[in-house]
Amino acid sequence: MTINWAALDAPYPTLAKNPLAGRDLLRLSDLTAEQLHALLSCALAQKRAWKSGDLTAPYAGKSVAIIMEKPSLRTRVSFELGAKRLGAQTTVMGDATSAFSRGESIKDTVMVLERYVDAIVLRTYAQSRLEEVAQHASVPVVNALSDDFHPCQGLADLLTIYEHKGDLSKQRIAYIGDGNNMAHTYLEAAALTGCDLTIAAPPGYQPRPDYLRQAQERAAMSGAKLKVVEEVGSALAGADVVITDTWASMGAEAEHDERARTFAAYQVDAAGIAEAAPGAIFLHCLPAHRGEEVSDEVMDAPYSKIYDEAENRLHVQKALLSLLLADPCLPETGERR
Ligand code: CP
Repeated sequence: MTINWAALDAPYPTLAKNPLAGRDLLRLSDLTAEQLHALLSCALAQKRAWKSGDLTAPYAGKSVAIIMEKPSLRTRVSFELGAKRLGAQTTVMGDATSAFSRGESIKDTVMVLERYVDAIVLRTYAQSRLEEVAQHASVPVVNALSDDFHPCQGLADLLTIYEHKGDLSKQRIAYIGDGNNMAHTYLEAAALTGCDLTIAAPPGYQPRPDYLRQAQERAAMSGAKLKVVEEVGSALAGADVVITDTWASMGAEAEHDERARTFAAYQVDAAGIAEAAPGAIFLHCLPAHRGEEVSDEVMDAPYSKIYDEAENRLHVQKALLSLLLADPCLPETGERR
């Protein structure tokens, strides 16, 4: 199945079955095109309902554990308030009080936690830690950022690009900077949607070859064109969407000064945006380091959609939770919230 972008905004649900009931989301490559369509369509419906003042909360009786082993503003607040707006209860644990901070085995921790909650949202370090949690959990597990992937941010970005630019399979995306968890996520997002993605990153900081290879295998089916280059200009030329991210991700802060020197030529500034296609938009998952990976001028320009992007974290996460927690059979009519 390829995504029918023209049908995305149609009243939701358009599918007889919920393709996400009880699933995990550890990375975007976990998703089929059908599941992505359901998620984005549901997110648009959630957003319309919220903007119209509809406060229906159909998930009373459900509960979600949100565990943050790294700092967070957007992910933590949007998951917590998103779950509450759905009617679900939440328990939020930070690093010091995290379920996983006392040395108890992951298996024991998860086997206990799932007796209390209907889903586990986890921000952590190694992707393998998430995989181990998911292996033991019978409830859905959601990656709220790991060292390797940030699928919830990727979903919000796809929704933002769709809202501003339409059919994602027709977009050319330039990602400039560190080949980090967001770069890996955009590789998987492009492979899933069929858009063109060029990543410009310096040697030693390019995406992991195994993740690039996996995305290229999937791109062969979707028609996506994925490239990794060193030179910024060729990535920016004609791009419809320009994206960057911090040069020193969480855990790499000690390398800040060295990275600032290495990445100096990778700042996204107004001159760089001028190389992109007319009508191009700029995205950044935030937090940004103004004056480093992006200039103030770009952050504050009309083509910068960073706050729409941040808002969409709320809508896609509500959509994600509502589908993961819902019955496998969706109602035949009406919008699920
Ligand atoms: N973009 C993002 O994940 O933001 P937080 O780290 O604030 O959650």
